[in-house]
Formats: sequence, C-alpha cells, structure tokens
Amino acid sequence: MKIKAVVFDAYGTLFDVYSIQVLAEGFYPGKGADIAVKWRDKQIEYTRLITQSDPHNASGSQYFRPFWELTRLSLEYTLDRLKLDRASGQVEKLMQQYAHLKPFAENLAVLQKIKAMGLTTAILSNGSLDMLISAVKSAGMTDVVDHLISVDPIRLFKTSPESYGLVQRTIPVNKEEVLFVSSNGWDALGATWFGFKTHWVNRQGLPFEALTPQPHFSGSDLNSVLLSLH
Ligand code: LAC
Repeated sequence: MKIKAVVFDAYGTLFDVYSIQVLAEGFYPGKGADIAVKWRDKQIEYTRLITQSDPHNASGSQYFRPFWELTRLSLEYTLDRLKLDRASGQVEKLMQQYAHLKPFAENLAVLQKIKAMGLTTAILSNGSLDMLISAVKSAGMTDVVDHLISVDPIRLFKTSPESYGLVQRTIPVNKEEVLFVSSNGWDALGATWFGFKTHWVNRQGLPFEALTPQPHFSGSDLNSVLLSLH
C-alpha cells in the first residue's frame, strides 16, 4: 500500500535533545554528556511509569503530567542525583534551551521534499502542544509540518496504542499508509507493533532493538527517509 502520510517523532528525531549538553557542560564542566543522557532517560521513564500505572482509565492516566513538567522534574532529579548545585537558575536556563532545541541540519530540506511529493506530514509526540509549537517555529518548519499531534488530550504517552491511534483520528489514512519516523528505537518498535510502516533514523549507530520485528526501514539521518518513500 502506498504511503500517504509521513509522521515524525519530535525529540531526538527532528530536535536534537542532546544539543543541550553543551549548555549543561558550561554549567557543570565534565558532566554535560552525563546530564543529557540521564535527563532524557529519566524523562522517558516517567512517561512509561505514568502510562503503565493507569492504562485503562477512560480519561487517561490519573498520574498524567504534561511532558514539559516531566522534563523539568526529570532535570531536577538528574542534577540532584549527580549532586550538582542548581541554586543559580541552571534549571530555568536549561529548560529555556529545551524550548528552542536545535533541529538536525538536514531536516528542513527533507521535509520540503516530502511536501513536494504531495504527502501529508505530521509530528506525533509526547511533547505538550506549546512545546511543539515553540520547537517547530524556532526550527523554521511551520510551513512543512501539516499537523502537530500531542498526546496531551488522551493523557497516555507512547508507546500506548492510544497514542499512535491519534494519527488516524487526525489524518484519514489506514495504518499501512503511514510511514512513522523515529530516532528512538523503542518508539520505532512501538509504532511497528501498532501497525504503521516504520523508519528508524539511527543517528548514533546503535544496534537494532533485541525485540522484534525490526523497523521496515532505517538509515543514519533524515535523508534516508526519502529512500523509503521510493
Ligand atoms: C517524543 C519523544 C518521546 O517526541 O521523543 O514523543
């Protein structure tokens, strides 16, 4: 079946979450990389904890907190865990940077080419809508992303089936007509299990997840998505 919509994960896929390590390194010399990794891991851990602990509630998890809040809490936890002082506004400054994360260099041109092919484009993210609007705007991508889809309204994060199901509530397509693109191996796997065609952007040269099936396509940066569409 022909692909009609290309749906992107946001953080790590379009926006470089590890780019904040440069700022973190400035505040805490020698610790920037460790902070970036631990911050990201804790943030994703919180989304899973919240979703798994109340998955069947009709109005979403009672433990739900917007991703922006989880991002701040996981940063505070990470700095405390590493016994780093956060009394001088470091959290605020790192959060400001998170609101304007650097996009990966090739992204804009790839999105423009996908739009020129007549396909629908969207972002499906755990991110709150205001975070996504701010990130897309600072990356100059407003004109090339048709839909910003946040999990906020359902209060369940990825990889819940309900979260991937939001795509079809927004765009009239069959699952197999969606190419879901993520740099997060776990997200590519969740979307494959859900029934989308998937493309894993393996920016860090990692092995495939040990759980199967593997994503339908993969490549080392966003340009590789164009090959999956031919
Ligand atoms: C997202 C995170 C999980 O954008 O990367 O959904």
